[in-house]
Amino acid sequence: MKITVVGAGAVGASCAEYIAIKDFASEVVLVDIKEGYAEGKAMDLMQTASLNGFDTKITGTTGDYSKTAGSHLAIITSGIPRKPGMTREELIGINAGIVKTVAQSILAHSPEVIIMVVSNPMDTMTYLVHKATGLPKHRIIGMGGALDSARFKYRLAEAVGAPISDIDGMVIGGHSDTGMVPLSRLATRNSVPVSNFVSEERLGQVVEDTKVGGATLTKLLGTSAWYAPGAAVSAMAQAIVCDQKKMFPCSTLLEGEYGLSDICIGVPVILGVNGIEEIVTIPLNDQEKAKLAESAEGVRKTNSLLDVS
Ligand code: LAC
Repeated sequence: MKITVVGAGAVGASCAEYIAIKDFASEVVLVDIKEGYAEGKAMDLMQTASLNGFDTKITGTTGDYSKTAGSHLAIITSGIPRKPGMTREELIGINAGIVKTVAQSILAHSPEVIIMVVSNPMDTMTYLVHKATGLPKHRIIGMGGALDSARFKYRLAEAVGAPISDIDGMVIGGHSDTGMVPLSRLATRNSVPVSNFVSEERLGQVVEDTKVGGATLTKLLGTSAWYAPGAAVSAMAQAIVCDQKKMFPCSTLLEGEYGLSDICIGVPVILGVNGIEEIVTIPLNDQEKAKLAESAEGVRKTNSLLDVS
């Protein structure tokens, strides 16, 4: 299957690289507005094919969306990234216009496409794609929770002193420094609650470190991270293209689930060849429910800055 990645910056190129390395897509088309940039990244990546052992064909184009025709999945990473000290919400002014135009350009050539939104502020950009395209809700997916959960597992493994493969955990809510809701009560080390191994205070620290996971990296790198975002996107893309029915927390349009409506926010979903095939409702306790509701208020505040008329 063919996958389009819009934006050949660090995140877009990392998505293309991880998708190619896993060798589950027939073709990846990288699109960028900077003359020759996507073509260059695509050529560089293709020259890793014989070394890394993949057959996925990667091509690049400077804004020619006709090259993306027939894509099963399109991943939007375009827009400006965070600089140190910035919140994801501050990017809305520039990124909203870009994301809207990109989504419409993709759809013009791939009417059946599933759109995955990575650009920030991600939950609001996902909502914007709904408003701008009117696509059925299962075909619009926001990538945030998979990345935040990977960061949560990294911090949990560090605190517990266990290998990451022994750790399971999930982050729901908005993809923002204040909106993330890491579900530490449900996190486990090989089926055993992590609270068995670490103090409540240390778990609290894990939660706080997870919430500012992106900001911590932005401070260290001078721009936002790309390896883990690319890996999260490729895992979700694989679940879709290979119809794996895997569960990830994703930003999806809610219509009453978790007591929320007319909002895109991270909750667990099943990803398969049709995109979001099911929204999974998990029993949250009152504290978790309150945190999710508070997170939703934050997302709504950012949504209110959108011009979706
Ligand atoms: C991050 C960006 C991709 O969290 O939102 O690194």
